[in-house]
Amino acid sequence: MRMEITERLVDLRDEALSKVASAKDLEELESVRVAYLGKKGALTAVLRGLGELPAQQRPAVGRISNEVREALESALAERKQALEREALERRIAREAVDVTLPGRQRVLGHQHIIHQIVDEIVDVFVGLGYRIAEGPEVELDYYNFTALNHPPEHPARAATDTFYVRDMTGASSPDAFDSEVLLRTHTSPVQVRVMEKQRPPIYVLAPGKVFRRDVADPSHLPQFTQIEGLVVDEGITFGDLKGTLERFVHEIFGPDRRVRLRPHFFPFTEPSAEVDVSCAMCGGEGCRSCGGEGWLEVLGCGMVDPNVFRYVGIDPERYSGFAFGMGAERIAALKHGIPDLRLLIEGDMRFLRQF
Ligand code: PHE
Repeated sequence: MRMEITERLVDLRDEALSKVASAKDLEELESVRVAYLGKKGALTAVLRGLGELPAQQRPAVGRISNEVREALESALAERKQALEREALERRIAREAVDVTLPGRQRVLGHQHIIHQIVDEIVDVFVGLGYRIAEGPEVELDYYNFTALNHPPEHPARAATDTFYVRDMTGASSPDAFDSEVLLRTHTSPVQVRVMEKQRPPIYVLAPGKVFRRDVADPSHLPQFTQIEGLVVDEGITFGDLKGTLERFVHEIFGPDRRVRLRPHFFPFTEPSAEVDVSCAMCGGEGCRSCGGEGWLEVLGCGMVDPNVFRYVGIDPERYSGFAFGMGAERIAALKHGIPDLRLLIEGDMRFLRQF
């Protein structure tokens, strides 16, 4: 009987220890513990049977049982520790952050070339004491044409040249024209809006978007940016206009460039001129880049027509003024040697990143 129970204990121990050793995780280990040491466990059952042994055998068998229990308990504790360590190591490995991985690239944006050139030009005139003025992009015919001295039959009013938002053609009143709504074709209507509200002296610069029914090609865009200048004061002369434009050209294109004015016509200025800048490539000799001319056109200008002053109630006997208007995209193209204005609006980063 004693031999029997002793052997049984040793068998149980070996069996339990091998199961402990092969337990793959804490859960499996716990079920091994319950299977041997739990209330209904195999070892517990043997220990319960001790009471039935003859008294002189009990101490020896009791000692062996205790040894088996202790061996099992310490094997369980050791294995538990090992499995916990493994689990922790696995978790650390899984959650580890590899600080040597390259970081996420964030692309830094920058100001678009059109806005850069507008800011540069604004800076020049703000430096001369001009204030910035604004007007609506959706404009009334009155401001875009009528008050700028365009006769009713002026070709720029044609629906083939101008985007009309609300067409009043056929309306009964002869003044219906004036309330037609259109996308402004130039920034000159801002001149009228400023003069309606402000008395001279006036020194303003008005940058903004303008719209024309043109098909985009290397030198035209249906939407582009104009910068309008207007000066009204006592004793303003054509010489003031020319000096102002020379200053502008030298600041934007460099002090070596020369300025030339050619007679031109605009309904709202008299006299009017187109302004050319000497070609940077040939210095005025004529080359391929300026089409053999030696000069490149940069803007339109003139002395404010007395008729425009009458529309806004400024006395042309007392005040005189000049105005000019330029295309920002064109200035940018001339300054940077850009051969096609469409490049400016296509959003190709390979092109835009150069500026
Ligand atoms: N508004 C004219 C244009 O768009 C330019 C201009 C402005 C001419 C001011 C004279 C004076 O062509």
